[in-house]
Amino acid sequence: MKKIVILSGAGMSAESGISTFRDNNGLWKNHRFEDVASPEAWRKDPALVLEFYNMRRKNLFESEPNPGHFALADLEQKFDVKIVTQNVDDLHERAGSSSILHLHGELKKARSTGDPELIYELNHWALNMGDTCEKGFQLRPHIVWFGEMVDNISPAILLVKRADILLVIGTSLNVYPAAGLIHYAPAHCTKYLIDPDASNSHLFPGLEIIPEKSGTALPVLVKRLLDTAMDS
Ligand code: APR
Repeated sequence: MKKIVILSGAGMSAESGISTFRDNNGLWKNHRFEDVASPEAWRKDPALVLEFYNMRRKNLFESEPNPGHFALADLEQKFDVKIVTQNVDDLHERAGSSSILHLHGELKKARSTGDPELIYELNHWALNMGDTCEKGFQLRPHIVWFGEMVDNISPAILLVKRADILLVIGTSLNVYPAAGLIHYAPAHCTKYLIDPDASNSHLFPGLEIIPEKSGTALPVLVKRLLDTAMDS
C-alpha cells in the first residue's frame, strides 16, 4: 500500500464552523495569543486562558466533521494514511480516520499542572478554576502553547520521511516546527497543497497547489487517488 501523510491546519476545519487563526476573522485577529495561549498568560490570568479555550471547546462540541474530513477517512480503503494535524479539534477522529498525531494538543483534553502525565478526557466544554486532578493540582488545557515544546514533532518527521504522497491542507505554513515538516518529504514524494489562499506556498517548492476549499477539493482528489490506486 502506498503511504499518504496528511499535514492539516485550521483551514481543514473552517467549513465545520471552527475559526482559523490568521484569516480575516481569525482567532488572532480578535485575541493576542500572548494573552490567551502562552505559559506567561497562564501565570498572569489563568481564568482568562480557561475562558478562551472554553469558548473554542463549546464551539467544537457544536461542530461536525465536513466532507473533507470524511474524504480523508475514505482514503484508508486503499492507502496507508497517517494524519499529522496542527488542529486541536477531534474532527479527523469523528470522521473515522484511524491514525492521527496531534502536534499542538487536543482541545477535549485537560492536563494536571502538577503532574503532566495526568491527562483527562473532557466530556463537557467548561474547564474552570478549581477543577483539579486526582492529586489536587489545577487542570489546564492539554494544548501546546507558544513557547512550549512540540513533543510530537519527532514522530511526525519520521512519518513524512516515508511518505509517497503528502497532502498539505488548510495551513498558512507560518508556524514552526510544523511548517518545516514539508522539507522532510522524500524526493519521490508527490506533494499537494490545498488552500484557497496559498500565500506562503512559494517558500515550499514542489507543491502542486489546489486553490480550493478542502471540503470541495478533497472529495474530488480522494476519488481520483482511489480510482487510480493499484489494487495491492
Ligand atoms: N479550506 C482550505 N484551506 C482554508 C479554508 C478552507 N475552507 N479556509 C481557510 N483556509 C486556509 C487559509 O487560507 C490559511 O492559509 O487555511 C489556512 C489557515 O491558516 P492559519 O489560520 O494560520 O492556521 P494554521 O496554519 O493551522 O495555524 C498553525 O498556528 O496559532 C497557531 O497553534 C496554532 O495550530 C495553529 C498554528
